[in-house]
Amino acid sequence: MLNQYDIQLDILRLDNIHQQVNGNKWFKLKQNLAVASNGDYDCLLSFGGAYSNHIRALAAASALAGLRSIGVIRGELPSPLNPVLQFALDQGMLLHPISRSSYRQKQTGEFITGLHRQFGEFYLIPEGGSNELGVQGCEEIIDLLLPELRAAGNGKPVYIATACGTGATLAGLIRGAIKRQLDVRLLGIAVLKGAGFLREEVASWLGNVEGDGAKVRWNIELDYHFGGYARSTRELQQFIESFVLSSGIPIEPVYTGKLFFGLYDLIQKGTIPSGSRVVVLHTGGVLDI
Ligand SMILES: Cc1ncc(COP(=O)(O)O)c(C=O)c1O
Repeated sequence: MLNQYDIQLDILRLDNIHQQVNGNKWFKLKQNLAVASNGDYDCLLSFGGAYSNHIRALAAASALAGLRSIGVIRGELPSPLNPVLQFALDQGMLLHPISRSSYRQKQTGEFITGLHRQFGEFYLIPEGGSNELGVQGCEEIIDLLLPELRAAGNGKPVYIATACGTGATLAGLIRGAIKRQLDVRLLGIAVLKGAGFLREEVASWLGNVEGDGAKVRWNIELDYHFGGYARSTRELQQFIESFVLSSGIPIEPVYTGKLFFGLYDLIQKGTIPSGSRVVVLHTGGVLDI
């Protein structure tokens, strides 16, 4: 699809690192799991919707680590359970559905205290695995690219691109690139509608991280949400079908489909200039249960 553009495009297949705990999910969870086990917790609790990739990965990672897990699920459990929730249950996760209005209270002290009263001690991970340790874990993704990135360039722009939900993955990449003193552009494609707030959110994850001589620029593109989170259109579906057919790489409409659509469009418009090197993160999200 990009033959006439002088772009070197590579895909970092984080979706392939493990069958069940893969993509950005592993990087968001790894330090949380380590701290939880070292801090003598035997149970992890987190939040998500009925199709949450995070809940699915947390259930599998907890089972592999020999820890119990509780998934607080937004809204009623579907009957029969969908493949994500059935998988989580099969991994031993306790599914705790709550109403959408209660779900909105999930960050309040009163709500968390109620959960402790009901379930006892647990290590809490926020929705999407997006906390400081999750961002720190995502910094490590940059290490996988270091030899390539240091060799690349030759004055040509180098981009690293990822889909953005909460922005934690992008923040980790930016921090990782600054600390490793790279000269790169980080690009997030927002999958939510009206995601302008993410720029501030990501900036706040960055704090005042420093790296001598680093030249790191970043941006979040807001125009590729296709109507909002988990919404799709015929145009997006057609793009995904032809991408999968021509590349053999599975992508889906919630995250990676929007990411690749956005990137291809930015390349065709010249926003990503000819001659650039682009590394795209495949963050998983394709069901392979
Ligand atoms: C497959 C996939 N890609 C990308 C993202 C976006 O990550 P973040 O919320 O850190 O922006 C998510 C959500 O966590 C995801 O499940």
